[in-house]
Order: sequence, then C-alpha cells, then structure tokens
Amino acid sequence: MAQQVKAVIARAKGAPVEVTTIVVPDPGPGEAVVRIQACGVCHTDLHYREGGINDEFPFLLGHEAAGVVESVGEGVTEVAPGDFVILNWRAVCGQCRACRRGRPQYCFDTHNARQKMTLLDGTELSPALGIGAFAEKTLVAAGQCTKVNPAAEPAVAGLLGCGVMAGIGAAINTGGVGRGDSVAVIGCGGVGGAAVLGSRLAGAARIIAVDIDDRKLETARTLGATHTVNSRTTDPVEAIRELTGGHGADVVVEAVGRPETYRQAFYARDLAGTVVLVGVPTPEMTLELPLLDVFGRGGALKSSWYGDCLPSRDFPMLIDLYLQGRLDLRAFVTETIELDAVEQAFARMHQGDVLRSVVVL
Ligand code: APR
Ligand code: ZN
Ligand code: ZN
Repeated sequence: MAQQVKAVIARAKGAPVEVTTIVVPDPGPGEAVVRIQACGVCHTDLHYREGGINDEFPFLLGHEAAGVVESVGEGVTEVAPGDFVILNWRAVCGQCRACRRGRPQYCFDTHNARQKMTLLDGTELSPALGIGAFAEKTLVAAGQCTKVNPAAEPAVAGLLGCGVMAGIGAAINTGGVGRGDSVAVIGCGGVGGAAVLGSRLAGAARIIAVDIDDRKLETARTLGATHTVNSRTTDPVEAIRELTGGHGADVVVEAVGRPETYRQAFYARDLAGTVVLVGVPTPEMTLELPLLDVFGRGGALKSSWYGDCLPSRDFPMLIDLYLQGRLDLRAFVTETIELDAVEQAFARMHQGDVLRSVVVL
C-alpha cells in the first residue's frame, strides 16, 4: 500500500521550499522504503531549489540522511527491514567495466529507485541526488542503503552521506594523505573541515587551515588544524610555504570552488605534491596557468568526486571510528531542526553561520 508522508519540496525555481504531503509507493524489485531519522541541509539542496542543477521541478529535497529500512522489494539482499542505514547517491551496477576493475565509484550504470514518488495529485517528484530525504519516508534503490552500527546517532551518521564524506574522502581516498604529511586545506566549511579531520585521522603532521572567516578557522582548530591562515589578510600561498620550511604542502585540498582558490591550491603545493579539487566550480569558470608551472612542478592535480568513497567500505568504518571516540563527527552538527525549518537553515548556511543544520525526525 502506498503511504502518505510529510516532506519538503521545491515547487518552482527560486520559490521558498514548502512542507507538503507526498505519496511513497511500496518498494518494487530492488527497492527499499526507508523511515528517515535525520537529514543534513546541504548547499546542493539550495542549488536544486534555485534551478541551478536542472529544471525538473518539483524537487523532493534532502540527501544527507540516515534512517531505518521499513520494507524491501523483491530480490533485495543488501538490507532488511529494521537495518540502520546511511543513504548514498547512487547504487552501482557491479557489472560495468569500472565496477569489474574495482572502481565502482566510477560506475557507468548507476541507478536510483525505478518507481516515482508523487504529490497527492499524481505529479512526479525529482528526488535530490536520487534520495529525497527531507521526508518522513523515502523510496530508494536498495543499493543506496549501507548498513552501519545503530549505536551512532542518526544526525551524525547522516552527514557521512554527502559533505562530510566528500571532505574526509578528499584527504584520505583522493589525496592519499599519510603519516607525517603536511596538508593545507583551503576553505574550511563543512567539506574543508571534514578534510582537516580526515587529515588528522591519517596522521598528517601539519595541517594548515585557510579561510576568510575566523569562525571557520576556530572550528578547524578543534578538528585538528595545527595552523590557521586568514586569506583575507594574509597571502595563503606565502603563508603555507613559510609554514612548510619553504616547500609547500604535500597535499593541498581546495574546498571552495573558485578560480582564485584553485590557483592558490596549485601554487601552495610542494614539488611533486598533490592538489585535490573538491570545491565545485560553475560552468563559466576558467583558470589560466603557465604550462611550464604545470610541467615543472610535477605531482598531480586530482578532482575528488564524492570523496572517491565506497559506501560499503567507508561508511561502516568511519562510524566505527566515531563510536570509538577517534573521529569527531559530532562537531559538524551545529544545530538540529524540524522539517519545517529548512528554509531558515538555507539562510543560516548562506551567512556562514553553520557547518551543518540537521533535520531530525
Ligand atoms: N578563500 C578561502 N576560503 C573561502 C573563500 C576564499 N576566497 N571564499 C569562501 N571561503 C570559505 C567560506 O568562508 C566557507 O568557510 O569556504 C568555505 C565554504 O564552506 P561552505 O559554504 O560550508 O561549503 P561546503 O559545504 O564546505 O562546500 C564547499 O565543496 O563540495 C563542494 O559544492 C561544494 O563547492 C562547495 C565546496
Ligand atoms: Zn550534499
Ligand atoms: Zn558499474
């Protein structure tokens, strides 16, 4: 039996979000219905609302979520009713060339639920990142669910579903930060802050946090930054060089997504160092670099897509580290809010007041 539940939708470009009733069908083959317990508010939700991703309104927003599997469809073996799960953007196929070569994060044939959730009048909803979790319940592909230790609070666990995983993964999976490395993180919001935390976990000796907002630099210190640089008042490239004995950092993580910070990241790395680009640029942005600098400095420029994470490997591991007190994921939950406060949370996010507001249901 299809169910009616409360959810937050963006009905039209730029219009404020609204709480409404949606229809969630029973799970079909390969699908699961998840009772959402918590869902973080992310920039991507705001981009959907603003029409910056596509025009497939109305959107069912929310995608950094954790909850309990309520029911599963035919043939589902990944999860069972009662499992505590973190949701991820895309179920991978397991069959394509990327999957077979052990790189499912680049799967060519990912999928979400095949059935659609709708408004009461039958209008089909587009779930944000194939999830749509500002809702009491949502329908996903079973492969989008990863079972983790239920001792973790949902508000903390859900954050691994997007921004925090992107940051930790940028440092550890993409950047390959290792014991004794010097790391610089440019932009220390939710994503960059998580890159700081990931670098500490990986044993970096020196972690230089760069931001234009002193509040973010303060938080970065609590997450493990050993040095901070306010790039409004200090040239960050110079400062990073000075703090690394004149060399530059072994790994630089860019978590802003602007040409000037991409450039800073490029020049702040040591010879043969790695630059990890996790900040998402807009389509019109370009960056001009002298080819001799690209050639002459060696190393690697890498982009990091969803922190190059493998949900089934990374989510349970990071939750276990959190439960052991070795990974301060709680630091990212600035406030917990109700479903009807998403619009206000967007405003606070815009002003840089929060790392994450998390809807708790
Ligand atoms: N130099 C340094 N820091 C900057 C600059 C700048 N020129 N401009 C903005 N910042 C800082 C902000 O002060 C803020 O702390 O970058 C941080 C951005 O953080 P958030 O707004 O919290 O965004 P976040 O969720 O961390 O995402 C950052 O990563 O995944 C991408 O799409 C995401 O492009 C976005 C980026
Ligand atoms: Zn997100
Ligand atoms: Zn595949």
